[in-house]
Amino acid sequence: MMFIPSVLTAALALLSSVGFAVNRSAAELASYNPDASHYNGSLNFCLGAKNPNGGCKTTDEYLADLNALANYSASVRTYATSDCNTLQNLLPALSQASHNFSLYVGVWPTDDAHYAQEKSALSQFLPKYGVRNIKGITVGSEVLYRNDLSANALGDRINDVRGLVKSYGFDVPVGTSDSWNLWAAGSGDAAIQASDFIMANDFPYWQGQNTSNMTNTFVSDTLTALERVQHVKGTNNVTFLVGETGWPTGGPNYGEAQTSVDIAKQFFHDALCQVMKKGIDIYYFEAFDEPYKGADSNVEPHFGAYYSNRVPKFSLNCTESI
Ligand SMILES: *[C@@H]1O[C@H](CO)[C@@H](O)[C@H](O)[C@H]1NC(C)=O
Ligand SMILES: *[C@@H]1O[C@H](CO)[C@@H](O)[C@H](O)[C@H]1NC(C)=O
Ligand SMILES: *[C@@H]1O[C@H](CO)[C@@H](O)[C@H](O)[C@H]1NC(C)=O
Ligand SMILES: *[C@@H]1O[C@H](CO)[C@@H](O)[C@H](O)[C@H]1NC(C)=O
Ligand SMILES: *[C@@H]1O[C@H](CO)[C@@H](O)[C@H](O)[C@H]1NC(C)=O
Ligand SMILES: *[C@@H]1O[C@H](CO)[C@@H](O)[C@H](O)[C@H]1NC(C)=O
Ligand SMILES: *[C@@H]1O[C@H](CO)[C@@H](O)[C@H](O)[C@H]1NC(C)=O
Ligand SMILES: *[C@@H]1O[C@H](CO)[C@@H](O)[C@H](O)[C@H]1NC(C)=O
Repeated sequence: MMFIPSVLTAALALLSSVGFAVNRSAAELASYNPDASHYNGSLNFCLGAKNPNGGCKTTDEYLADLNALANYSASVRTYATSDCNTLQNLLPALSQASHNFSLYVGVWPTDDAHYAQEKSALSQFLPKYGVRNIKGITVGSEVLYRNDLSANALGDRINDVRGLVKSYGFDVPVGTSDSWNLWAAGSGDAAIQASDFIMANDFPYWQGQNTSNMTNTFVSDTLTALERVQHVKGTNNVTFLVGETGWPTGGPNYGEAQTSVDIAKQFFHDALCQVMKKGIDIYYFEAFDEPYKGADSNVEPHFGAYYSNRVPKFSLNCTESI
């Protein structure tokens, strides 16, 4: 029988609910650092749609992925519905894993033809499999960062997707994920207004931060994004998550940020565990190394918490001393 840690009980209880609502102000959370073994924020993973060879994952491959993640997590997020038949192949695996997984479904909002295909996959597979395992829908990933759409246009698409799933009788939270600094700068306010939840992506590696400053940077930038979301929503009770974070274990350094397993492990245990202790859920980017993304000289293949053979690179248990 698969060992199911008690930390997962809370995550499983939330399976079909809105997600953990942060209910303290960002300023309160900055100094809220209990010496607790109780981590209210959960660890979850961003899951690629391709296997190590670059082929589209099958349902069996997704199932093996989820069972490898099951010691530490009960939720994953993906980026598209129609690309690689993600929704069709992944949805059946969620309830077959050693424990049920929940999913944040990603929908590409651009270009118009792609968006239409993405909505068509939602229309086909949500009614077929139901939404019991669906935690929410993210419309776009770093759309504002890439300047693919204005915040207003993104807000329109968020409302459009919410209307579509409602037309099938489903009440699923719809939001989006973007870089923390865009939320903090206020340039995404219209998208925040349209969203039921907001995810902030935060990579001190891409800010060239060294090991002495990476944790400060992560915690403070995450809370700065949260503060803007609470301000725009006019309440502290918001659903706010870290949508992507992580640290590459191979490939070139970036500024003062060096790549290694030891630094990734330190980043996890210092920075990510601290933010989870404050009650914020995290989606680690990404679950598994993706060797198809390029040569070893490139950083992109090395963001996994697990190697591509599904073995964890280090302990992902916050209560374990390292
Ligand atoms: C925040 O929510 C948690 C879980 O529901 C609850 O235990 C806690 O008392 C709440 N804190 C505040 C400040 O409302
Ligand atoms: C999950 O935890 C069990 C029990 O500690 C261990 O035997 C197993 O190797 C772990 N699986 C993974 C993929 O880490
Ligand atoms: C997952 O959920 C499904 C649907 O409710 C249920 O039939 C199945 O037993 C669950 N699996 C586990 C391992 O709890
Ligand atoms: C790390 O970066 C911070 C901020 O740039 C700097 O103050 C500090 O001296 C650096 N530490 C090391 C060991 O390079
Ligand atoms: C170190 O991190 C803090 C907190 O994010 C930040 O204010 C400061 O600018 C960083 N130092 C440098 C030199 O980047
Ligand atoms: C906080 O927000 C959640 C989700 O919108 C809602 O269910 C809950 O009642 C709210 N709590 C408070 C204290 O307003
Ligand atoms: C975490 O959960 C505990 C127990 O439910 C609660 O007392 C505490 O206020 C929560 N912390 C946060 C930051 O919500
Ligand atoms: C995490 O570590 C603590 C302390 O060593 C242990 O009690 C707990 O079972 C571990 N949880 C997991 C998921 O491995």
